[in-house]
Amino acid sequence: MFTNIKKINSLAIGLLCAGSLYFTQCSSVSEEKEQSANGLHEYYSGYFPIGVAVSPRALEDSAQSALILREFNSMTPENVMKAGPIHPSPNQYNWGPADAVSYYAKENDLKLRGHALVWHQQYPGWFFKDENGDQISKDTLYARMKSHITEVVNRYKDVIYAWDVVNEAVSDNSDFVYRQESPYYQIAGEEYLAKAFEFAHAADPQAKLFYNDYNAARPEKVDRIYTLVKKLKDAGVPIHGVGIQGHWSIFEPSEKDLRYAIDKYASLGLDVQITELDVSIYPWEKERRAMKPGESDEFTNELEEKQLKQYDMFFRVFRDYKETLTGVTFWNISDQYTWLDTYPVEGRKNYPLLFDQELKPKKAYYKVTSFDQ
Ligand code: XIL
Repeated sequence: MFTNIKKINSLAIGLLCAGSLYFTQCSSVSEEKEQSANGLHEYYSGYFPIGVAVSPRALEDSAQSALILREFNSMTPENVMKAGPIHPSPNQYNWGPADAVSYYAKENDLKLRGHALVWHQQYPGWFFKDENGDQISKDTLYARMKSHITEVVNRYKDVIYAWDVVNEAVSDNSDFVYRQESPYYQIAGEEYLAKAFEFAHAADPQAKLFYNDYNAARPEKVDRIYTLVKKLKDAGVPIHGVGIQGHWSIFEPSEKDLRYAIDKYASLGLDVQITELDVSIYPWEKERRAMKPGESDEFTNELEEKQLKQYDMFFRVFRDYKETLTGVTFWNISDQYTWLDTYPVEGRKNYPLLFDQELKPKKAYYKVTSFDQ
Protein backbone atom coordinates (compact mmCIF):
# COMPACT_ATOMS: atom_id res chain seq x y z
CA MET A 1 0.00 0.00 0.00
CA PHE A 2 2.71 2.41 1.08
CA THR A 3 4.66 1.64 -2.07
CA ASN A 4 1.65 2.42 -4.19
CA ILE A 5 1.03 5.76 -2.55
CA LYS A 6 4.68 6.59 -2.96
CA LYS A 7 4.57 5.62 -6.58
CA ILE A 8 1.50 7.65 -7.41
CA ASN A 9 2.85 10.71 -5.62
CA SER A 10 6.18 10.47 -7.29
CA LEU A 11 4.63 10.04 -10.70
CA ALA A 12 2.51 13.14 -10.18
CA ILE A 13 5.50 15.09 -8.96
CA GLY A 14 7.53 13.74 -11.84
CA LEU A 15 5.01 15.29 -14.21
CA LEU A 16 4.98 18.55 -12.28
CA CYS A 17 8.72 18.84 -12.22
CA ALA A 18 9.68 17.35 -15.55
CA GLY A 19 11.64 19.82 -17.59
CA SER A 20 11.64 22.40 -14.79
CA LEU A 21 13.89 22.94 -11.80
CA TYR A 22 14.13 20.03 -9.42
CA PHE A 23 13.52 21.48 -5.96
CA THR A 24 13.06 25.17 -6.40
CA GLN A 25 10.27 25.11 -8.96
CA CYS A 26 8.35 22.08 -7.79
CA SER A 27 5.16 23.61 -6.57
CA SER A 28 4.93 23.08 -2.82
CA VAL A 29 7.00 22.31 0.22
CA SER A 30 5.17 19.08 0.92
CA GLU A 31 5.85 17.92 -2.62
CA GLU A 32 9.51 18.80 -2.21
CA LYS A 33 9.58 16.62 0.86
CA GLU A 34 7.74 13.88 -0.95
CA GLN A 35 10.13 14.04 -3.85
CA SER A 36 13.22 14.06 -1.65
CA ALA A 37 11.88 10.88 -0.08
CA ASN A 38 11.88 9.27 -3.51
CA GLY A 39 15.43 8.88 -4.63
CA LEU A 40 16.36 6.43 -7.35
CA HIS A 41 17.42 3.83 -4.83
CA GLU A 42 14.01 3.93 -3.19
CA TYR A 43 12.18 3.34 -6.46
CA TYR A 44 14.49 0.38 -6.95
CA SER A 45 14.46 -0.90 -3.40
CA GLY A 46 12.67 -4.10 -4.45
CA TYR A 47 15.16 -4.62 -7.28
CA PHE A 48 18.85 -3.86 -6.70
CA PRO A 49 21.08 -1.21 -5.10
CA ILE A 50 21.73 1.86 -7.23
CA GLY A 51 25.31 3.05 -7.06
CA VAL A 52 27.47 5.89 -8.30
CA ALA A 53 31.18 6.38 -8.97
CA VAL A 54 32.60 9.19 -6.86
CA SER A 55 35.72 11.18 -6.08
CA PRO A 56 36.54 12.49 -2.59
CA ARG A 57 36.14 16.01 -3.97
CA ALA A 58 32.54 15.35 -5.02
CA LEU A 59 31.77 14.07 -1.52
CA GLU A 60 32.98 17.38 -0.06
CA ASP A 61 30.70 19.39 -2.32
CA SER A 62 27.45 19.93 -0.47
CA ALA A 63 25.19 19.92 -3.54
CA GLN A 64 26.68 16.72 -4.94
CA SER A 65 26.75 15.08 -1.54
CA ALA A 66 23.06 15.88 -1.02
CA LEU A 67 22.25 14.38 -4.40
CA ILE A 68 24.24 11.23 -3.65
CA LEU A 69 22.50 10.70 -0.34
CA ARG A 70 19.08 11.28 -1.83
CA GLU A 71 19.42 9.17 -4.95
CA PHE A 72 21.94 6.39 -4.33
CA ASN A 73 22.58 3.66 -1.78
CA SER A 74 25.89 2.40 -3.09
CA MET A 75 29.18 3.93 -4.27
CA THR A 76 32.34 2.99 -6.13
CA PRO A 77 35.53 5.07 -5.88
CA GLU A 78 36.12 6.33 -9.43
CA ASN A 79 39.93 6.37 -9.17
CA VAL A 80 41.34 6.46 -5.66
CA MET A 81 41.55 2.71 -5.02
CA LYS A 82 43.27 1.92 -8.31
CA ALA A 83 46.85 0.70 -7.94
CA GLY A 84 48.47 3.86 -9.36
CA PRO A 85 46.79 6.37 -7.05
CA ILE A 86 46.78 4.16 -3.92
CA HIS A 87 50.22 2.54 -4.17
CA PRO A 88 52.49 5.14 -5.81
CA SER A 89 55.81 3.65 -4.66
CA PRO A 90 56.81 0.22 -3.31
CA ASN A 91 56.57 1.07 0.38
CA GLN A 92 54.09 3.89 0.22
CA TYR A 93 50.33 3.68 0.23
CA ASN A 94 48.29 6.81 -0.33
CA TRP A 95 45.35 5.90 1.90
CA GLY A 96 43.89 9.36 2.51
CA PRO A 97 41.56 9.72 -0.50
CA ALA A 98 40.39 6.09 -0.33
CA ASP A 99 39.83 6.40 3.42
CA ALA A 100 37.67 9.47 2.77
CA VAL A 101 35.41 7.52 0.41
CA SER A 102 35.13 4.52 2.72
CA TYR A 103 34.48 6.75 5.74
CA TYR A 104 31.67 8.54 3.88
CA ALA A 105 30.12 5.21 2.90
CA LYS A 106 30.21 3.96 6.48
CA GLU A 107 28.91 7.20 7.99
CA ASN A 108 26.02 7.35 5.56
CA ASP A 109 25.23 3.67 5.42
CA LEU A 110 25.97 3.25 1.72
CA LYS A 111 27.21 0.03 0.20
CA LEU A 112 30.72 0.24 -1.24
CA ARG A 113 32.23 -1.58 -4.24
CA GLY A 114 36.00 -1.72 -4.49
CA HIS A 115 37.58 -0.81 -7.84
CA ALA A 116 40.01 -2.16 -9.13
CA LEU A 117 42.79 -4.46 -7.92
CA VAL A 118 44.35 -5.69 -11.16
CA TRP A 119 44.20 -3.57 -14.31
CA HIS A 120 46.55 -2.87 -17.19
CA GLN A 121 45.93 0.87 -16.79
CA GLN A 122 46.45 3.35 -13.95
CA TYR A 123 49.08 1.12 -12.32
CA PRO A 124 52.18 2.59 -10.67
CA GLY A 125 55.28 2.76 -12.88
CA TRP A 126 57.40 0.74 -10.46
CA PHE A 127 55.04 -2.22 -10.26
CA PHE A 128 56.39 -4.30 -13.15
CA LYS A 129 60.06 -3.24 -12.96
CA ASP A 130 63.06 -4.19 -10.84
CA GLU A 131 65.64 -1.74 -9.49
CA ASN A 132 67.48 -1.77 -12.86
CA GLY A 133 64.32 -0.97 -14.76
CA ASP A 134 64.06 -4.48 -16.18
CA GLN A 135 60.84 -6.47 -16.25
CA ILE A 136 60.28 -8.53 -13.10
CA SER A 137 59.87 -12.31 -12.98
CA LYS A 138 56.59 -14.12 -12.52
CA ASP A 139 57.41 -14.90 -8.87
CA THR A 140 58.16 -11.28 -8.11
CA LEU A 141 54.94 -10.24 -9.85
CA TYR A 142 52.93 -12.64 -7.70
CA ALA A 143 54.67 -11.45 -4.55
CA ARG A 144 53.83 -7.85 -5.43
CA MET A 145 50.25 -8.66 -6.39
CA LYS A 146 49.79 -10.59 -3.17
CA SER A 147 51.12 -7.84 -1.00
CA HIS A 148 49.19 -5.08 -2.82
CA ILE A 149 45.89 -6.98 -2.88
CA THR A 150 46.21 -8.11 0.74
CA GLU A 151 46.96 -4.60 2.04
CA VAL A 152 44.20 -2.86 0.11
CA VAL A 153 41.48 -5.49 0.60
CA ASN A 154 42.29 -5.84 4.30
CA ARG A 155 42.11 -2.14 4.97
CA TYR A 156 38.57 -1.78 3.64
CA LYS A 157 37.09 -5.17 4.41
CA ASP A 158 34.74 -3.77 7.04
CA VAL A 159 32.95 -1.67 4.43
CA ILE A 160 33.61 -3.01 0.92
CA TYR A 161 31.23 -5.85 0.05
CA ALA A 162 32.43 -6.53 -3.51
CA TRP A 163 35.64 -5.99 -5.46
CA ASP A 164 36.42 -5.63 -9.13
CA VAL A 165 39.39 -7.96 -8.87
CA VAL A 166 40.45 -8.07 -12.50
CA ASN A 167 39.44 -5.31 -14.88
CA GLU A 168 39.42 -5.46 -18.69
CA ALA A 169 41.60 -8.56 -19.24
CA VAL A 170 39.91 -9.48 -22.52
CA SER A 171 41.58 -8.35 -25.75
CA ASP A 172 40.16 -5.74 -28.11
CA ASN A 173 41.29 -8.08 -30.88
CA SER A 174 38.71 -10.81 -31.40
CA ASP A 175 41.46 -13.28 -32.39
CA PHE A 176 42.48 -13.48 -28.74
CA VAL A 177 40.71 -14.05 -25.46
CA TYR A 178 43.38 -12.41 -23.28
CA ARG A 179 44.69 -8.87 -23.71
CA GLN A 180 48.18 -9.61 -25.01
CA GLU A 181 49.71 -6.23 -24.21
CA SER A 182 48.79 -6.28 -20.51
CA PRO A 183 51.99 -6.34 -18.44
CA TYR A 184 50.35 -8.93 -16.18
CA TYR A 185 49.78 -11.19 -19.19
CA GLN A 186 53.24 -10.60 -20.61
CA ILE A 187 54.91 -11.61 -17.37
CA ALA A 188 52.65 -14.42 -16.20
CA GLY A 189 50.29 -15.46 -19.00
CA GLU A 190 46.63 -16.13 -18.18
CA GLU A 191 47.48 -17.62 -14.77
CA TYR A 192 47.62 -14.13 -13.22
CA LEU A 193 43.83 -13.96 -13.19
CA ALA A 194 43.42 -16.97 -10.91
CA LYS A 195 46.18 -15.64 -8.64
CA ALA A 196 44.44 -12.28 -8.31
CA PHE A 197 41.16 -13.87 -7.24
CA GLU A 198 42.92 -16.22 -4.82
CA PHE A 199 44.83 -13.38 -3.14
CA ALA A 200 41.67 -11.29 -2.82
CA HIS A 201 39.67 -14.20 -1.44
CA ALA A 202 42.35 -14.97 1.14
CA ALA A 203 42.35 -11.32 2.26
CA ASP A 204 38.56 -11.15 2.61
CA PRO A 205 36.67 -14.44 2.30
CA GLN A 206 33.34 -12.56 2.63
CA ALA A 207 33.85 -10.21 -0.32
CA LYS A 208 32.08 -10.88 -3.62
CA LEU A 209 34.78 -11.01 -6.26
CA PHE A 210 34.04 -9.75 -9.79
CA TYR A 211 35.57 -9.90 -13.22
CA ASN A 212 34.71 -6.54 -14.86
CA ASP A 213 34.87 -5.45 -18.52
CA TYR A 214 33.61 -3.02 -21.19
CA ASN A 215 31.75 -3.79 -24.42
CA ALA A 216 30.52 -6.69 -22.32
CA ALA A 217 27.16 -6.78 -24.10
CA ARG A 218 28.60 -7.05 -27.65
CA PRO A 219 27.83 -10.70 -28.43
CA GLU A 220 31.25 -11.54 -29.83
CA LYS A 221 33.00 -10.15 -26.76
CA VAL A 222 30.37 -11.67 -24.44
CA ASP A 223 31.44 -15.07 -25.72
CA ARG A 224 35.11 -14.38 -25.01
CA ILE A 225 34.40 -13.01 -21.54
CA TYR A 226 32.28 -16.09 -20.92
CA THR A 227 35.17 -18.34 -21.98
CA LEU A 228 37.56 -16.59 -19.60
CA VAL A 229 35.19 -16.61 -16.65
CA LYS A 230 34.06 -20.19 -17.21
CA LYS A 231 37.64 -21.36 -17.19
CA LEU A 232 38.19 -19.71 -13.81
CA LYS A 233 34.94 -21.08 -12.43
CA ASP A 234 35.67 -24.61 -13.65
CA ALA A 235 39.11 -24.47 -12.08
CA GLY A 236 37.54 -23.68 -8.69
CA VAL A 237 38.86 -20.11 -8.59
CA PRO A 238 36.90 -17.94 -6.11
CA ILE A 239 35.02 -15.73 -8.57
CA HIS A 240 31.47 -14.68 -7.73
CA GLY A 241 30.33 -12.24 -10.36
CA VAL A 242 30.66 -10.60 -13.72
CA GLY A 243 30.60 -6.82 -13.97
CA ILE A 244 29.16 -5.48 -17.20
CA GLN A 245 30.65 -1.99 -17.20
CA GLY A 246 27.85 -0.41 -19.22
CA HIS A 247 29.73 2.40 -20.97
CA TRP A 248 27.01 2.46 -23.56
CA SER A 249 25.48 4.95 -25.94
CA ILE A 250 22.28 5.89 -27.70
CA PHE A 251 23.44 3.46 -30.43
CA GLU A 252 24.11 0.29 -28.43
CA PRO A 253 23.49 -2.26 -27.06
CA SER A 254 20.18 -3.49 -28.43
CA GLU A 255 17.69 -5.08 -26.06
CA LYS A 256 18.44 -8.47 -27.63
CA ASP A 257 22.18 -8.14 -27.09
CA LEU A 258 21.74 -6.90 -23.54
CA ARG A 259 19.55 -9.88 -22.66
CA TYR A 260 21.96 -12.26 -24.36
CA ALA A 261 24.83 -10.92 -22.26
CA ILE A 262 23.04 -11.10 -18.91
CA ASP A 263 21.69 -14.58 -19.66
CA LYS A 264 25.07 -15.88 -20.70
CA TYR A 265 26.93 -14.65 -17.60
CA ALA A 266 24.11 -15.72 -15.31
CA SER A 267 24.22 -19.22 -16.84
CA LEU A 268 27.54 -19.66 -15.02
CA GLY A 269 25.70 -19.30 -11.72
CA LEU A 270 27.37 -15.97 -11.01
CA ASP A 271 26.06 -12.62 -9.82
CA VAL A 272 25.81 -10.03 -12.55
CA GLN A 273 26.10 -6.29 -12.00
CA ILE A 274 26.05 -3.24 -14.24
CA THR A 275 29.10 -1.54 -12.74
CA GLU A 276 29.82 1.62 -14.77
CA LEU A 277 26.67 2.82 -16.46
CA ASP A 278 26.60 5.87 -18.71
CA VAL A 279 24.80 6.48 -21.99
CA SER A 280 26.96 8.53 -24.33
CA ILE A 281 25.39 10.62 -27.06
CA TYR A 282 28.25 9.61 -29.40
CA PRO A 283 29.20 6.27 -30.97
CA TRP A 284 31.76 4.27 -28.96
CA GLU A 285 35.41 5.02 -29.76
CA LYS A 286 38.51 3.75 -28.05
CA GLU A 287 41.45 5.84 -29.26
CA ARG A 288 41.96 9.34 -27.97
CA ARG A 289 41.61 12.03 -30.63
CA ALA A 290 41.09 15.76 -31.01
CA MET A 291 37.69 17.25 -31.73
CA LYS A 292 37.12 17.46 -35.49
CA PRO A 293 36.38 20.84 -37.09
CA GLY A 294 32.63 21.35 -37.13
CA GLU A 295 31.99 18.48 -34.71
CA SER A 296 29.07 19.47 -32.52
CA ASP A 297 28.70 18.69 -28.84
CA GLU A 298 25.26 20.13 -28.40
CA PHE A 299 22.71 18.08 -26.46
CA THR A 300 19.81 18.53 -28.86
CA ASN A 301 16.20 17.58 -28.10
CA GLU A 302 16.53 14.74 -30.56
CA LEU A 303 19.54 13.31 -28.72
CA GLU A 304 17.79 13.75 -25.40
CA GLU A 305 14.83 11.79 -26.75
CA LYS A 306 17.06 8.98 -28.03
CA GLN A 307 18.89 8.81 -24.73
CA LEU A 308 15.63 8.70 -22.79
CA LYS A 309 14.43 5.76 -24.89
CA GLN A 310 17.70 3.93 -24.39
CA TYR A 311 17.63 4.49 -20.61
CA ASP A 312 14.00 3.39 -20.53
CA MET A 313 14.83 0.13 -22.31
CA PHE A 314 17.90 -0.56 -20.16
CA PHE A 315 16.03 -0.17 -16.89
CA ARG A 316 13.07 -2.20 -18.15
CA VAL A 317 15.49 -5.03 -18.92
CA PHE A 318 17.31 -4.56 -15.59
CA ARG A 319 14.00 -4.83 -13.74
CA ASP A 320 13.18 -8.03 -15.63
CA TYR A 321 16.47 -9.42 -14.33
CA LYS A 322 16.03 -8.42 -10.71
CA GLU A 323 16.71 -11.98 -9.58
CA THR A 324 20.07 -11.94 -11.36
CA LEU A 325 21.34 -8.37 -11.09
CA THR A 326 22.80 -7.49 -7.70
CA GLY A 327 23.61 -3.88 -8.49
CA VAL A 328 23.44 -1.08 -11.05
CA THR A 329 26.11 1.62 -10.66
CA PHE A 330 26.38 4.85 -12.64
CA TRP A 331 29.84 6.06 -13.65
CA ASN A 332 29.77 9.63 -12.26
CA ILE A 333 27.04 11.64 -10.64
CA SER A 334 25.78 14.15 -13.19
CA ASP A 335 26.48 15.78 -16.54
CA GLN A 336 28.26 18.55 -14.61
CA TYR A 337 31.33 16.32 -14.68
CA THR A 338 31.79 13.06 -16.50
CA TRP A 339 34.99 11.29 -17.50
CA LEU A 340 33.50 11.29 -21.04
CA ASP A 341 34.08 15.09 -21.23
CA THR A 342 37.73 14.29 -21.82
CA TYR A 343 37.68 10.73 -23.10
CA PRO A 344 38.08 9.79 -25.87
CA VAL A 345 37.79 13.35 -27.23
CA GLU A 346 39.33 16.05 -25.06
CA GLY A 347 36.95 18.98 -24.61
CA ARG A 348 33.93 17.37 -26.28
CA LYS A 349 31.12 17.70 -23.78
CA ASN A 350 29.03 14.59 -23.13
CA TYR A 351 25.72 14.22 -21.31
CA PRO A 352 25.55 10.56 -20.34
CA LEU A 353 23.89 10.57 -16.90
CA LEU A 354 20.45 11.01 -15.36
CA PHE A 355 21.21 14.40 -13.78
CA ASP A 356 22.04 17.51 -15.81
CA GLN A 357 24.82 20.05 -15.40
CA GLU A 358 22.87 21.76 -12.63
CA LEU A 359 22.32 18.42 -10.89
CA LYS A 360 18.65 18.40 -11.79
CA PRO A 361 16.98 15.19 -12.96
CA LYS A 362 16.71 14.89 -16.74
CA LYS A 363 13.62 13.60 -18.54
CA ALA A 364 15.26 10.17 -18.62
CA TYR A 365 15.24 10.19 -14.81
CA TYR A 366 11.46 10.48 -14.72
CA LYS A 367 11.19 7.75 -17.31
CA VAL A 368 13.25 5.21 -15.39
CA THR A 369 11.42 5.97 -12.16
CA SER A 370 7.88 5.57 -13.53
CA PHE A 371 7.03 1.91 -13.65
CA ASP A 372 4.63 -0.49 -11.98
CA GLN A 373 6.36 -1.83 -8.90
C1 XIL B 1 38.13 6.20 -15.60
C2 XIL B 1 37.88 7.38 -14.68
O1 XIL B 1 36.51 7.70 -14.71
C3 XIL B 1 38.72 8.56 -15.12
O2 XIL B 1 38.62 9.62 -14.18
C4 XIL B 1 40.18 8.15 -15.27
O3 XIL B 1 40.91 9.23 -15.79
C5 XIL B 1 40.31 6.95 -16.18
O4 XIL B 1 39.50 5.89 -15.69
N1 XIL B 1 36.65 1.57 -17.16
C6 XIL B 1 36.98 1.48 -15.83
C7 XIL B 1 37.16 2.72 -15.03
O5 XIL B 1 37.03 0.36 -15.27
O6 XIL B 1 38.12 2.56 -14.03
C8 XIL B 1 37.48 3.91 -15.90
O7 XIL B 1 37.46 5.06 -15.08
C9 XIL B 1 36.50 4.02 -17.03
C10 XIL B 1 36.57 2.80 -17.91
